[in-house]
Amino acid sequence: MTLKSLSSVLAAVLFLLGLSSAQAADKDVIDYRQNLMKSLGAHASGLGAIAQNKVPYADNLAYHADAIAAAADAALLAFEQNLPGGTSAANIWEDWDDFEARFMSLASAAREVAAAARSGGMAEAGPKMGGLFICKSCHDTYRTE
Ligand code: HEC
Repeated sequence: MTLKSLSSVLAAVLFLLGLSSAQAADKDVIDYRQNLMKSLGAHASGLGAIAQNKVPYADNLAYHADAIAAAADAALLAFEQNLPGGTSAANIWEDWDDFEARFMSLASAAREVAAAARSGGMAEAGPKMGGLFICKSCHDTYRTE
């Protein structure tokens, strides 16, 4: 192999590596953030079932609240890329500060619920749950359907 052909092979390899490491496919990004939102939904359902006394697993309250906080934090990173699609509306990236503040407020409300659940169970956590009910207002503002 000549030096010239070797360097063009190297360039091709570097190009491919660059593509795979720097650019995620749009579909993968959308799947990824939707999966995070699904996990948020799953933990909100778990918390709701316990709060309404449908299931006797009050010891799991803090777990679900922690998971909601973690998913809200992780979602922020997953939405950073300006990529309308799925049911995400373009105004997310026009009004990023407001969008970000909503996820941060969800995360901090969930952390308060988790701390209250640890110290006083449902009796203490219940009154703090109001700050978690912001899903619909964000969906109404930032989703296309
Ligand atoms: C800061 C705004 C915001 C908040 C707060 C928020 N969501 Fe979402 N959610 C979105 C957006 C935007 C999408 C659309 C994602 C996409 O399709 O790209 C979404 C999508 C979803 C989906 C559908 C995922 C799929 O399969 O397509 C579920 C379920 C969901 N959210 C649950 C919740 C729950 C439960 C809460 C509250 C505990 C919540 N969300 C709070 C913005 C938010």
